[in-house]
Amino acid sequence: MPERLQKVMAQAGVASRRASEKLILAGKVKVNGKVVTQLGTKVSGNDAVEVNGKLIEQAEEKVYFLFYKPRGVISAAKDNKGRKVVTDYFSDIPFRLYPVGRLDYDTSGLILITNDGKLANMLMHPRYKIEKTYVAKVKGIPSNNALKQLRLGVQLDTKHKSAPAKARIISSDKQKNSAIVSLTIHEGRYHQVKKMLEKVGYPVRKLKREKYGFLTLDGLTAGQYRPLSHNEVRNLEKLVNKK
Ligand code: URA
Repeated sequence: MPERLQKVMAQAGVASRRASEKLILAGKVKVNGKVVTQLGTKVSGNDAVEVNGKLIEQAEEKVYFLFYKPRGVISAAKDNKGRKVVTDYFSDIPFRLYPVGRLDYDTSGLILITNDGKLANMLMHPRYKIEKTYVAKVKGIPSNNALKQLRLGVQLDTKHKSAPAKARIISSDKQKNSAIVSLTIHEGRYHQVKKMLEKVGYPVRKLKREKYGFLTLDGLTAGQYRPLSHNEVRNLEKLVNKK
């Protein structure tokens, strides 16, 4: 994405944005060999920017995507067993991308993909309590007591109890003895949703993540992605107080 010249200079550590503007106005900056004195000039990673005759090294542009992961895909940048990974869907994007957190191989749904390691790490940190909503098809129809347990917290193993969650039944089918349950949690322990539902007696048959913070899968089908808007990135940064 093209960015303003003074921003690119500041990100490359040349000088503050203000000081970079002064350098531009003073005719000290060249873009692709030509002096540029216009402050609004936009440049991208392919443009050669020289300051006082020295080429600057541009910081890598940050890109952010919302991906609808299909089932049967690994949430990693590579897999040593040669299975399909989420980044295979981004092979024409010229950046080294990573998923933000994980979804199980057999779980579908919303996962963020980016090259912004700093924001990714912050989003994954439990202290920011980002809510994720899952929709699970379970065996059996959860009782009121089971829903209450999910809401209060479930002992996942000897050490960990899940934090209070939102849980409700979306629909149920007595004949098939199954139900669709919505569960919203802000933690991200290994197999957490499957464990929570298993522990209260309703094993998961199918799992999908429908929401991540304020982001949803609207408009996408499995295997598709879209870039996040500027506003969406800003709002994610706000969730972790990055800006
Ligand atoms: N909880 C699970 O059990 N699996 C996932 O993929 C995500 C949350």
